[in-house]
Amino acid sequence: VIFDKPIIPKNISRRIKQNLYAKEHSFFAVVQPGFEIIAEKEFMKIVPSMSVSSRVRGGIEFSCSVDDIRNLNLLSRTATRFMMRVDSFRAIYFERFRERLSRIPWEIYISPSVKVSFSISCSESRLYHTGRLEEEAVSALSTSMNQTYPGWDGIAMTADEKASSQVILIRLDKDDCTVSIDTTGEPLYKRGYRTFVEKAPIRETFAASILLTAGMSDYDVLLDPMCGSGVFSLEAALMKKGEPAGIRRKFAFEKWPGFSAASFEYLKKTLSGDSAVRVPGPEIFASDIDEKAVVTAGKNFDESGVSDMINLSVKDFFTIARSGFERKKVLVVLNPPYGKRIVPDEILPFYKRIILQVANLKPECCAYILVPSKILKNTGISQSNVVLQCNNGGIALALIRI
Ligand SMILES: C[S@@+](CC[C@H](N)C(=O)[O-])C[C@H]1O[C@@H](n2cnc3c(N)ncnc32)[C@H](O)[C@@H]1O
Repeated sequence: VIFDKPIIPKNISRRIKQNLYAKEHSFFAVVQPGFEIIAEKEFMKIVPSMSVSSRVRGGIEFSCSVDDIRNLNLLSRTATRFMMRVDSFRAIYFERFRERLSRIPWEIYISPSVKVSFSISCSESRLYHTGRLEEEAVSALSTSMNQTYPGWDGIAMTADEKASSQVILIRLDKDDCTVSIDTTGEPLYKRGYRTFVEKAPIRETFAASILLTAGMSDYDVLLDPMCGSGVFSLEAALMKKGEPAGIRRKFAFEKWPGFSAASFEYLKKTLSGDSAVRVPGPEIFASDIDEKAVVTAGKNFDESGVSDMINLSVKDFFTIARSGFERKKVLVVLNPPYGKRIVPDEILPFYKRIILQVANLKPECCAYILVPSKILKNTGISQSNVVLQCNNGGIALALIRI
């Protein structure tokens, strides 16, 4: 049976409208650990009517409509992913797990032409065999979908099918099972433009979270003096330009039954191009000591059409002088080398030197710096300078403000 051009029966269409689009649902946003508060603030700006029920490290639970989640996916610069909760129950036996899964009205959430895959994780639960859980889930979903679409065999099998599939996430935590549907697709730090990578780039969502935490738009100048591939400057420029974060990419919800491509295109049109809401922002200066990194950053700025908004140069951070910025409010953002990029004996003197250089740039400058947590004490930085604890590539970091 081929469901390439899905014909959704009228009664199902009606139920999709009523139960998927006309109601509020519970969602879970995956955000950069440590940046939950700034992410929540950003979400509230995009969807003022949403209600937040809880905040945990790395995530926010809230409710809103599917139209709102479409807007959040398109506009949020801080979130990594949004998942829609579809059911939660206690599961100690496979039979119960399978029975509860087969009761979910899958035909409301899944278009018959779309391939589906499962992402299953378990912790401290009696049901922990993810292979068996997946078999049960596949069987429950197939039985349920076949009642509406006889012959449906939409389980993703090949790597290609899996890569573009609708993911259903099942999490068992202390025997509590939560079933969610991914609304996002590829993680949101993939903005949809081609990126050229240098050593240890930070993710777009991470950079945007730091810029928002720092209150970027209150400054006259943004200095990104160890710019690497240029992610901070790029995110800052796109924010200034008012370009919706996800305007160049696709989302999982676009394949949901009843999704209106026309109204989404209209929304994107009203938010971009000449209609984009430009935000006042600082003049942006990106530089790096490494010429190759500067070339890469330049290519990234070209790719995303912001080259004319960023002053780019090869420069040693330690040669930057205060005199260039007198009477201006300057924000410095620094993601210096850490981890494998720098030998252990050099790391502490290097960070001490950075802190001294920032002190030289005062009082005009305010700097937000990522510092490896394990050397924080020895740098002499006071706890009162620590804005939050986060991590990058498995390394624990403190975001400090001096
Ligand atoms: C971890 S990377 C920064 C990654 C960047 N945030 C990104 O997203 O691509 C650190 C960068 O600091 C640069 N760097 C190291 N010492 C420097 C110095 N004295 N002046 C300027 N840049 C320096 C390195 O060349 C490297 O590109």
